Amino acid sequence: MNIIECVKQQHRKIDTLVRQLETINEEEERSKLRVELADFLAAHIVAENEILMPLLAKHLEPGARVPESKEEHDVVAFTINHLMSIPLSSPTFPPRLRVFKNILLDHLEEEEYGLIQQLRQVAPKEELEKAGKAFARVFCDGLRGGWGKLAQSLLGAERAKTKKKMGKGKVVAGKRAPAKKAVCKTQTKGTKEHQ
Ligand SMILES: [Fe+2]
Repeated sequence: MNIIECVKQQHRKIDTLVRQLETINEEEERSKLRVELADFLAAHIVAENEILMPLLAKHLEPGARVPESKEEHDVVAFTINHLMSIPLSSPTFPPRLRVFKNILLDHLEEEEYGLIQQLRQVAPKEELEKAGKAFARVFCDGLRGGWGKLAQSLLGAERAKTKKKMGKGKVVAGKRAPAKKAVCKTQTKGTKEHQ
């Protein structure tokens, strides 16, 4: 699977998880879903930052929205952290989820229908295939660590240090299901399962 298909497939999964989180009422299910979303999204952002962004920067014109898209990843990481930091039962949770969803879905749409389409037109197919394998590998490694391990790098070392000092920013505990093979679907043919 090439990197464009990988990214689009993961965007669909993220979209589905966010919408499910909005509609499911059962608390334990919701808690698991929130953790699954944070884990998946964190691994996805790391893979995009490490593999997709350099590829976009290499092939697209300097005026393309590549730096903006990377900045948006920081905003999305901040908002998912914000969403993880309060109890599901808090009256603040629903509006916080709606704001997160709007920011996230806008970002996915812009990336998918803007940058990714431009990349498809200019990058050689072989390079897209190779990048797809690298993307799947980084994603699956990230998924194993989950949000808990990726949060600090995504939120920035300085921010993480400040949080530590202030005793804030703890990731809300939630039962985290071990990464399932089924979740890690972005392997390409010939790539081993990263589990
Ligand atoms: Fe992205």
